[in-house]
Amino acid sequence: MTKKLSDETDVRAATEPFQAEFPYERDEEAQVTRREFCNFLGLTSAALFAGAAGFAAKAALDERESVSLPAARIDGAESLAPNSSLNFSYPTERDSAILIRTADGGYHAYGQKCTHLSCPVYYARNHQRLECPCHEGAFNAATGDVLYGPPPRPLDAIEIEMRDGQIWAIGRTPSSSEVGG
Ligand code: FES
Repeated sequence: MTKKLSDETDVRAATEPFQAEFPYERDEEAQVTRREFCNFLGLTSAALFAGAAGFAAKAALDERESVSLPAARIDGAESLAPNSSLNFSYPTERDSAILIRTADGGYHAYGQKCTHLSCPVYYARNHQRLECPCHEGAFNAATGDVLYGPPPRPLDAIEIEMRDGQIWAIGRTPSSSEVGG
């Protein structure tokens, strides 16, 4: 009786009866053993993992950088009453933002997207904080930091500057630090 050869140990020498039916030369056959296949998978996975890790690291570094953008005047900001807010767009029309004038007269501006699931936050005058209506998250109006709720990080900060009595947006810094991190 012909001894069966394991494809793991000696596949290149395996000669089952059915193999005689196929008209190819054994030497030309490009067989891959299980071990070779596993090695290939392992190397491919390692390469993919290394690539993904590189992209993630670059994205994390990019995220922390303050983005230099063209300055844009925020219409109506100078007449904003204390303890109130004004919506605007920055840096593009699609980037909704919110300018807060806190009760002490200070101006603060943030991207309007909640850092949880991107619902638009609004300024709650009675609580003097930014609130998210979707899952009851809240942010400090003077710092953008998370006060409570599911948001994992502060709001994106929009840098503002006073020029000749008018408020201008001059840059935007995506938030990156996790709450408590
Ligand atoms: S989207 Fe703001 S708390 Fe969930």
